[in-house]
Amino acid sequence: MITYVCTTCGKKITTDELVYRCPDCRDRGDGGFQRGNLLVESDFSSLTKTWDGKGALDPLALFPYPMDIHSSFPAGNTPLAHPGRLNRSLGVENLYAKCDFLNPSGSYKDRASLLVAAQAKHLGINRVVLASTGNAGAAMSCAGAALGLEIILFVPASAPLEKLATSVYFGARVIPVKGTYDDAFALSLAWSEKHGGINRNTAYNPMTIEGKKSASVEIFNQLGGEAPDVVYVPAGDGVIYSGVCKGFEDLKKLGVLERLPRCVAVQSRGSNALYRSWKERGEVILEKTDTIADSLAVCSPACGEPALQFLSRCSGWAVEVSDGEIAESQARLAREGGLFTEPSSATALAGYIRDREEGRIDGSEKAVLLLTGTGYKDMKAVLRGISMPEPVGCTLEEVERVL
Ligand SMILES: Cc1ncc(COP(=O)(O)O)c(C=O)c1O
Repeated sequence: MITYVCTTCGKKITTDELVYRCPDCRDRGDGGFQRGNLLVESDFSSLTKTWDGKGALDPLALFPYPMDIHSSFPAGNTPLAHPGRLNRSLGVENLYAKCDFLNPSGSYKDRASLLVAAQAKHLGINRVVLASTGNAGAAMSCAGAALGLEIILFVPASAPLEKLATSVYFGARVIPVKGTYDDAFALSLAWSEKHGGINRNTAYNPMTIEGKKSASVEIFNQLGGEAPDVVYVPAGDGVIYSGVCKGFEDLKKLGVLERLPRCVAVQSRGSNALYRSWKERGEVILEKTDTIADSLAVCSPACGEPALQFLSRCSGWAVEVSDGEIAESQARLAREGGLFTEPSSATALAGYIRDREEGRIDGSEKAVLLLTGTGYKDMKAVLRGISMPEPVGCTLEEVERVL
């Protein structure tokens, strides 16, 4: 049995059945965020039987479903880099990078897909339906290929080709939609309600928030049993942000962490619904988005209400950065850190730099950037920032002419 808590009304639901949102909290139709997101109430009873309170914690032991599928789809366990050159160039010593672009399908979304796949196996349902800006789709398709699940994926037709092609290549049924991500989201819900299967839409299926908490436990282990001072999280729907905060809250509940790190939600100025909602203390939904960080392009954040609650519970804040700052940070991560990320990921560094410039953090604080997605999945963004050298003939003279 799993217990869920509604983030709108606080109602608890205990069930082993598939459940998405609180049945008592329908959207108010007041132009605000969706209501009734559910969070899993963590049950530490099996963990405390096997763990003596010392040493590294197994993040999988904090999940509500059996995780025996992990060896077939080994999401997570990504390295925590301490990039020396990048630290020196920024004039700091304590900047770390969680390399989630090294996940099996190249993004943080593999973590949630792992838990949704475990949910599907546990409930004996073989079909998973979802909408995605690209990465969640590729992640679920990858998990589906590894575990033999049927994946039906709705994506905006404008998503980067690499993300769409990856999902097709993994064998998913991909439906490119002539509309926005929000349109794809609505279509996938309508389709799964009519034709069945687990819906993995981000924040709609509570396992997508829960699945994203594992990075916090890994960071805690990798820093030798302590939390950083501050964590920078790229945010669109706010699910990664909420999952990361929930991971640290679980560690506090377990009694191994005294204080939560401050978690910063970083948004692109061209897609800043969460930032504006936090700053203006009212829920803002955008009419359109316009950013190079395509994975963050969301008009109505599906995890808006929980993300705002976590922002206040972990003394965090939101920050917005321009496309120019994102492109510069993407290049700096690559050229000064050897860290190859997509634009959405690079917002983490752009937010860190802006916060230092504006004095919200100082250079001595231990900070972790969540690098959520690989650069290989948006090569157009990379090609925009370079000019490809012309080929030379196969003689030393020709080489010496250009070098
Ligand atoms: C690489 C990457 N970073 C960040 C995000 C933002 O995550 P969320 O929508 O949960 O805020 C996404 C979402 O698609 C993503 O793919």
